[in-house]
Amino acid sequence: MKIRVLFVCLGNICRSPTGEAVLKKLVRDRGLEHQFHIESAGTEGFHAGEPPDRRTLRHGEARGYQFDSLAQKFANRHFEDFDHILCMDETNFYNVLRMAKSGEPMAKVKLLLDYGETGFREVPDPYYKGAEAFEQVIDLIEKACHHFLDEIMKSAKTDF
Ligand code: 4NP
Repeated sequence: MKIRVLFVCLGNICRSPTGEAVLKKLVRDRGLEHQFHIESAGTEGFHAGEPPDRRTLRHGEARGYQFDSLAQKFANRHFEDFDHILCMDETNFYNVLRMAKSGEPMAKVKLLLDYGETGFREVPDPYYKGAEAFEQVIDLIEKACHHFLDEIMKSAKTDF
């Protein structure tokens, strides 16, 4: 069984596609890609079907990340389809929780920055900001994803 990870932000064109690209590269670099299924989604659908924001692509590709996602809106089926739902900010987190039906296992929904001791609780929305904000998004996500993957692989070892 693959470990299924979904990153969630608001529009699914800046932060969560970055999470998807960063974790995909990390698992590829560790030779673990066959063990993971990784996607991203937004709590709003206003960019559904679009590729990531061109600033996300520019900053991410400059750091060696590949982006292959098209924006999709977070939907109820995602609760079943994923083991880890990692939200970029508290608004995303509560919007996801609000969609859950009773009985849904909510422990799988987390803030991404619960991992990594970045000193931040949320990945700030860069959409109306400049280049520095897009760099900060990648910095925070890289750190958190490293720690997330370490934790997941540690618990995968103890589970078997
Ligand atoms: P994201 O950023 O949630 O990181 O993808 C945003 C993308 C689009 C908008 C806001 C934030 N927007 O207002 O269209």
